[in-house]
Amino acid sequence: MSHVALGESLILGIESSCDETAAAVVRNGRDVLSDVVSTQHELHERYKGVVPEIASRAHVERILPVIREALDRASITLPALSAVAVGHRPGLIGSLLVGTSAAKALAWSAGKPFIAVDHVVAHLFAGLLEREPCAFPALGLVVSGGHTSLFLVRDPLHLELLGRTIDDAIGEAYDKAATMLGLGYPGGPLVDALAQRGNDRFVDFPTAWLGRDAEGERRLDVSFSGLKTALLYAVRGVPERKPKGTPRGEPPRYARSAADLSETERADLAASFQRAAVHGVLRVVERALDRVPVRTLLVGGGASANSRLRTELSALATARSLDLRLPAMNWCLDNAAMIAGYAHHRLCGGQIDSLDVCPQPLSVLASTAAR
Ligand code: KG4
Ligand code: ZN
Repeated sequence: MSHVALGESLILGIESSCDETAAAVVRNGRDVLSDVVSTQHELHERYKGVVPEIASRAHVERILPVIREALDRASITLPALSAVAVGHRPGLIGSLLVGTSAAKALAWSAGKPFIAVDHVVAHLFAGLLEREPCAFPALGLVVSGGHTSLFLVRDPLHLELLGRTIDDAIGEAYDKAATMLGLGYPGGPLVDALAQRGNDRFVDFPTAWLGRDAEGERRLDVSFSGLKTALLYAVRGVPERKPKGTPRGEPPRYARSAADLSETERADLAASFQRAAVHGVLRVVERALDRVPVRTLLVGGGASANSRLRTELSALATARSLDLRLPAMNWCLDNAAMIAGYAHHRLCGGQIDSLDVCPQPLSVLASTAAR
């Protein structure tokens, strides 16, 4: 087991992968001197999802004021920085281009090292901000709007993917559940709040069971599509059988809609959904902990703000004497402090990037299962 030594650094982090424009200044991968996030939720709300073109335009308008504010709040000027870091993957390509171009331009003009950071990996290290260093190896769980992945984190620079969702990410499932229940966007926090008032045994929703892999090992992957369909049918009823000769593409016909739910039913369905979704995640975490000897559990991503997931992970950590690193609530969602925080580890390991590094829509690390 090793502790990673913290060298001296002062890093400007930039984040623009989806619908948050963010910049932060972090010292030594730990002390957050400033943390500015400009969210675009209000621009995407009526579409119930992020519209890529609207997101890129908003990033272009906001990126420089956000960076300026982060530097001002930290009372730092560019020459004082050790490096400029950016989340360059995964994400919406137009959005990533804005942050990556800004970071490269600043790094080049100030003559500072440029560090490109994988956003999914950075989420894992948000629980180290403003805290003492943790021991490695660790188990890493990312639960976000785009990813649900488990990693063996040998040290900050060596991660192995152990499992991932085979369909939707958990945050995405929450967002779709919110739409099915007639709630707004982003749905995760709304379903979570409603679930806290409901009966979680109202419906016994299924948790996917993915069995064993080719080597006979229990799989560490998860799936949320069956749960989503089960919720849809619980809200609207099983769709009517289509009569013979119905044209292809004709949408299914349901007997009910979300508008027919009473407030109690809506809360009970949200609670039942939440119970099954969190149970699905907890089960693979426990399975992974049985396989890999770790004393630390790193957790990150938007859904790590979920009340039930936090409570259940805390109970698990206590039962197994684990050092659980749940991020503070403001660092669960997309932010730039986690980008600067993780960049510190890359800088200490001599991992500086060329200005030729391009943004990428996918995280190679988080998308390919090591099965
Ligand atoms: O990490 P994040 O900000 O963006 C990505 O990297 O994808 O995660 C956003 C996701 C959304 O899907 C949102 O609904 C979900 O995190 N989320 C939650 C909660 N708060 C945010 N999901 C469940 N419970 C919450 N309390
Ligand atoms: Zn994220």
